[in-house]
Amino acid sequence: MIKYNFDEEINRRHTHSYKWDIKERHMDTEDVLGMWTADMDFKSPQPMLDILRDRLDHGILGYTIRGENFYEIIKNWMKHRFNWTLTDEDIHFCPPGVIPAACMLVDLLTEPGEEVFAFMPNYDSLYGTVEAMGRKLVTAPLLCAATPAATCGDWTLDLDAFEKIVRDRKIHLALFCSPHNPVGRVWTLDELLKFGEICRKYNVFIISDEVHCDIIRPDTIHTPMGKVPGMEDLSATLMSPNKSFNVAGVMTASVIIHNREVMKKFRTKLNHWAMNLDTVFGTLAVESLYSDPECEYWLNQVNEYLTENLESAVDHIKKNIPCLSTYVPQGTYLLWIDFSKTPLRGHELRRYLVQECKLDLCDGWEFDPECLDHMRLNCACTKATLKEALKRLEKCKELL
Ligand SMILES: Cc1ncc(COP(=O)(O)O)c(C=O)c1O
Repeated sequence: MIKYNFDEEINRRHTHSYKWDIKERHMDTEDVLGMWTADMDFKSPQPMLDILRDRLDHGILGYTIRGENFYEIIKNWMKHRFNWTLTDEDIHFCPPGVIPAACMLVDLLTEPGEEVFAFMPNYDSLYGTVEAMGRKLVTAPLLCAATPAATCGDWTLDLDAFEKIVRDRKIHLALFCSPHNPVGRVWTLDELLKFGEICRKYNVFIISDEVHCDIIRPDTIHTPMGKVPGMEDLSATLMSPNKSFNVAGVMTASVIIHNREVMKKFRTKLNHWAMNLDTVFGTLAVESLYSDPECEYWLNQVNEYLTENLESAVDHIKKNIPCLSTYVPQGTYLLWIDFSKTPLRGHELRRYLVQECKLDLCDGWEFDPECLDHMRLNCACTKATLKEALKRLEKCKELL
């Protein structure tokens, strides 16, 4: 087994990197650290890179079919990781990714103008699918007592608000993020059962975005929505190796739908949109990442590294930057940081962080238009980069 060195500094500037190379985000400031969009500054597992390199050396990148073992590989991965038993008929794919799959499902399961539910804050591209597809977004908050001692586990679903909304407004589709971006919760089976009970009572179908399912802390268990008893027929579970193995750029996703009628419609739609083939690198990457034990070994190692990063970042912020508060997330490599004790909000906060601290973080308002006092910090970088980012963040002390 290969022992990976995640401390290796790899320069990502000028590599067409979404995280590092969007000049407009840097407000004419040099040397800004890219700590925003959710990918990692680490090389992916070597066995997969070798397979992609062999294909490049072959030199022909023509139309590509999935390998004979494709379904077997996905089924084994789901069984092994989540003790989730699937059949070939439950599994489909969506080559561009999880969000395009969510868009298609919103389009399939509702009519234009219809209302769709989501908890807020939430990943912007996920809740954005609702209005992008000409539907109306209806929201309820995730709840958390805003105390400095709050931990990730203090975030809860406002199920009373959810029930009232779906009952009174007769809503039949909801978007769900699990593990949750940005607050970092890994929902427990008990929470998912209670949520599911309301969904069954009012016939609400759930599109569950589980792209962060493999990046969780050691003491947590992720339960796929399609595995929650009673939710099998009322959900579509969207997963991908994107976050797990840092392959967002290969653009691939697995779509798990037990409900045969919904699956049939989804397959038909994918065919109509001519998205039934896969990208050459997407197919090869999924097959390697989900079947080679070396790749899973990489995943275990990266999870350890990320947990160390998150714990040390939280510790550093608590000890050295009292005007900010945050906590270790149960899942994802993203810190949700509360800046409400500083006087800066929204654009002014962003300007300060970019121009004074030279840090590019995600704005809170992307995750909830009303959230002007939070920022999201991506800790999937080398320890040296994280140390430098935290040093720069210390400038915020001047704000008090
Ligand atoms: C919750 C969540 N869903 C989906 C995505 C994007 O997935 P994809 O690139 O497969 O559409 C992200 C990326 O940050 C995310 O955080």
